Amino acid sequence: MSRILVTGRIPDAAVERLRAEHDVDAWTGAESIGRDQLLRRAAGSDAVVSLLTDRIDRELLDAAGPRLKVVANVAVGYDNIDVAACSERGVVATNTPGVLTEATADIAFALILMATRRLGEGERLIRSGDAWKWGMSFLLGTGLQGKTLGVVGMGGIGRATARRARAFGMDVVYQSRSAVDPGVAAELDARRVELDELLEIADVVSLHCPYSPATHHLIGARQLAAMKPSAVLVNTARGPIVDEDALATALDERVIASAGLDVYEHEPRVHPALLRLQNVVLLPHLGSATVETRTAMATLAADNVLAVLRGDQPPTPITR
Ligand code: GLV
Repeated sequence: MSRILVTGRIPDAAVERLRAEHDVDAWTGAESIGRDQLLRRAAGSDAVVSLLTDRIDRELLDAAGPRLKVVANVAVGYDNIDVAACSERGVVATNTPGVLTEATADIAFALILMATRRLGEGERLIRSGDAWKWGMSFLLGTGLQGKTLGVVGMGGIGRATARRARAFGMDVVYQSRSAVDPGVAAELDARRVELDELLEIADVVSLHCPYSPATHHLIGARQLAAMKPSAVLVNTARGPIVDEDALATALDERVIASAGLDVYEHEPRVHPALLRLQNVVLLPHLGSATVETRTAMATLAADNVLAVLRGDQPPTPITR
């Protein structure tokens, strides 16, 4: 029997799947596991099921010790994991791609609608108790039909967001490390462009690339200035892809019209200037937050662990 550390609350179905075969230490504290507890409890583990808020670095791998065989992140993003350090030690790292694609694209599109139709402002107005009255020019937003969505990072979530955009009558351009399958490009009528062109022509820019040193502050003051003054920026990927200082200034000075954010540069802290602005929609990292999706993510992470502990290839290893 191997020993598995689960670093936070995950759906019972996944914990039971692990418990059926192994000895499981599952953190169930109301607060997330602190660094000290994480390091202490990882000691002697054969597997760690990690959350995106856990930093899996050399210190953690050292603390876990030589028995560690697998780190299974319950997230598609794995910028919290030092994958190179894992492979140096022969530790397999896995993530959960695929199962959260549709849920995250739903949130990206919700943010697009909220930002363009000023839904956050409307909600805040009603809740404020202030007087309001229907009027021809009251809280006017902008429509999506005939507008262009620019997808930055055309992986599964980018493509699923593009599909939603097509259903809303939008055109799609994208920037990505590699071109999408010609069948998908044809289905979405999506043209691959460089980031500079995308920023210039898109009415909505939606970020779906992974976070890495190469995408740190990919969107900063220069990129925001290149966007249309009427444009919207949406980020459901990772906060530090956007220079939040520059974004707050651009929104305040109407360099761009609005933004919708599900992730933050210094999560869970939100830039104080953003909190004061009306033209930004702020969600608390809800991309994959549905019962179905979180269950599927945790179950996939459990399957990754069980496969590695059996000596098999895991379903979704991280390949760099
Ligand atoms: C969520 O942010 C994820 O990477 O799964």
